[in-house]
Amino acid sequence: MNDRLIIFDTTLRDGEQSPGASMTRDEKVRIARALERLRVDVIEAGFPISSIGDFEAVKAVAGAIKDSTVCGLARAVPKDIERAAEALKEAVSPRIHTFIATSAIHMEKKLGMSPHQVLEQAVAAVRLARNHTDNVEFSPEDAGRSELDFLCRVIEAVIDAGARTINIPDTVGYSVPEQFGGLIRDLIERVPNADKAVFSVHCHNDLGLAVSNSLSAVLNGARQVECTINGLGERAGNAALEEVVMTVRTRQDIFPVDVRLDTTQIVTCSRLVSNITGFAVQPNKAIVGANAFAHESGIHQDGVLKSRETYEIMRAQDVGWKENRMVLGKLSGRNAFRSRLGELGISFASEEELNAAFSRFKDLADKKHEIYDEDLQALVTDAAMKAENERYQLVALRVCSETGEVPEATVTLVMDGQEHGATSKGSGPVDAAYRAIESLVHSNADLQLYSVNNITSGTDAQGEVTVRLEKGGRIVNGQGADTDIVVASAKAYINGLNKMMLLVERTHPQV
Ligand code: KIV
Ligand code: ZN
Repeated sequence: MNDRLIIFDTTLRDGEQSPGASMTRDEKVRIARALERLRVDVIEAGFPISSIGDFEAVKAVAGAIKDSTVCGLARAVPKDIERAAEALKEAVSPRIHTFIATSAIHMEKKLGMSPHQVLEQAVAAVRLARNHTDNVEFSPEDAGRSELDFLCRVIEAVIDAGARTINIPDTVGYSVPEQFGGLIRDLIERVPNADKAVFSVHCHNDLGLAVSNSLSAVLNGARQVECTINGLGERAGNAALEEVVMTVRTRQDIFPVDVRLDTTQIVTCSRLVSNITGFAVQPNKAIVGANAFAHESGIHQDGVLKSRETYEIMRAQDVGWKENRMVLGKLSGRNAFRSRLGELGISFASEEELNAAFSRFKDLADKKHEIYDEDLQALVTDAAMKAENERYQLVALRVCSETGEVPEATVTLVMDGQEHGATSKGSGPVDAAYRAIESLVHSNADLQLYSVNNITSGTDAQGEVTVRLEKGGRIVNGQGADTDIVVASAKAYINGLNKMMLLVERTHPQV
């Protein structure tokens, strides 16, 4: 029988470190529930010391999740570990993940500590964490560039102190597969007490090798992989969960391990994370991209029709792709609405929330006859964003756009409870709308990205707009969905502005 490969998802922690991907407590809980349905083994919910918001988010995830271990990150210092333990109090299965850098460059330039001090601090941190839980993970940060003998000494000492998972991060994405696999093999062979811990890997994608490095590590004895949905994460991201998992599943002839995941939940998780963070998935992305199972060329289509295996190595259904199905329409009632959302794993905290969502559904059904699962998910995300960030609200938008004329937009917003209106011209209807909003809010935020995607197909589909706004080095993403893409654009801009207002100072774990 194959060994189990433990899947440790860090979308809510390392994923959140992508600029603009920060998530609110409720968003984290929604994603954590989806990860639990996906049956990931460990959910790293956040870095509790970083802010009160993140502490509350980890606490809420710990309280909500029953079937996966919930993990909190802590630097190897007492205040971080105590805070993580506090946030995880209600978890059925808690884990504290503590780390300190072990590469010469990080110890000297970042920490200003000697190797001896680093080793002592690592051991003390693991001991302290063990006072709170038996499930302690230790990471020697920048292990990929650490000196091997020192790394072995640190790992041996922290296993003796009680660490049960040793995670080897390639923090800066510098490793290449053969060498990284060799490092894992060497560590397992050379550390005398290696059999008392599970070896894990955490690879960054700076050279596009995060998944390959992780898989090479698995072939050399690693039994936990840290990864994120859609490969989200610091800089170029982390190893993509869907790619690691489907490689192991599809190539059981090569990998001596299997995962316990329900892979049919992968596409739903991918969409949810993309929806919430505003990080769109490129169409040619493996497993979860819109084209991943689409056969464009005639030869391929012919082959697939004769025998699927000619060109398909996985079944689209096995990762959760379904035919676009009309699920609800104008005549659907509240119960059908509630029950379909329930099947999608979406529930409401109160009857008022359900009623508000149902009334938005009715508005949408008036404009668009066929409502798909994707529409429902966008509708709920839109509503959740509104409920959380209500400083500015869009009341009305009127746009005039005519060939040969300069487009003009008139916008009405509620700002801090009072209605205000403004009219502006622009190079296009979206530009005019943004200028009108800006003339009311004076945010001076820099619009770094604007993108539109259709949620489903057809000209009556909802457009989903994502914007990225930057101000004073802070970045937020805003989203909006509507059948009218100028309205969706205005909603996205306002959502971004509202998030900008909410942004609080956070400590970055690695700075
Ligand atoms: O990349 C990294 O080294 C990390 C650690 C905190 C595990 O994210
Ligand atoms: Zn990382």
